[in-house]
Amino acid sequence: MKRVTSRSELSAVLAEGSGDGPRGFVPTMGALHAGHRELISRASIECGRVVVSAFVNPTQFDDATDLASYPREPEADAKLAQAAGCDVFWTPAVEDLYPDGLEADVRVTDDLTSVLCGAEEGRGPDHFAGVTTVVSRLFDAVRPDIAYFGEKDAQQLAVIRRMTTDQQLPIEIRGIPTVRDPDGLALSSRNLRLDARSREQALAIPRALREASEMAMSGERSTDSLTRHVRHLLIENGIEPEYVEARDPDDLAPVAEMNGRPVLLAVAATVGEVRLIDNVILEGRS
Ligand code: PAF
Repeated sequence: MKRVTSRSELSAVLAEGSGDGPRGFVPTMGALHAGHRELISRASIECGRVVVSAFVNPTQFDDATDLASYPREPEADAKLAQAAGCDVFWTPAVEDLYPDGLEADVRVTDDLTSVLCGAEEGRGPDHFAGVTTVVSRLFDAVRPDIAYFGEKDAQQLAVIRRMTTDQQLPIEIRGIPTVRDPDGLALSSRNLRLDARSREQALAIPRALREASEMAMSGERSTDSLTRHVRHLLIENGIEPEYVEARDPDDLAPVAEMNGRPVLLAVAATVGEVRLIDNVILEGRS
């Protein structure tokens, strides 16, 4: 595995030869865990060469303390990436991606970015402008054929797919199913900040999503009943959800009735001091 920092070093390494098959790319903010390992291993199975970036992107944080306290562990990250099959590990500096200052200038329609996590009471609509800006600059530097993202960030995945279509980029966006701890909690770098009690409490989130999924499979058609059930279970466990919503996984439009098509049931909630998100795709009975 080669380790590079500047954008010019990255270009030089990529120009050396591309190996056989497509170039795979896994963009990350570092603090790699088994969820990232899954993305990198999938990329290494499917691609000739795999690039992983680790960059804590300032423009997607609405809170300076959150940005400052985001875990940075480049040595451990490089080890995990290498073991999972990464060929080029890129840790850009802020100036490599933002040579003209920290401005987010790539956006997609508000319909996708001002709902769920993009609502004012969540992370705000500018969060996704930060994500699309950095991902489009990373894509421009890496020029991948396939890019891998976790389905846990379902809204981010929908936003990045839209950006790729808007910009007509020849990149396949591949979503990879959420990796969970054996107790059901979706893996996230933020889980490290949960104390034992909050972690126990947080398990109500995957439990509630699983129950809703079972209800949908047993024939419940009203998404209002499903979201009410999830909300009720969370509140019963002392969690006040920021949102519990049923939406179309592609255009994120609200869905009122199970209609034979997959429906995204998404949750965000702060447990202890930690904001968690999770989701499930409801299949329902047609
Ligand atoms: O999902 C993440 O880790 C980040 O949002 C991403 C896609 C790497 C952009 O900074």
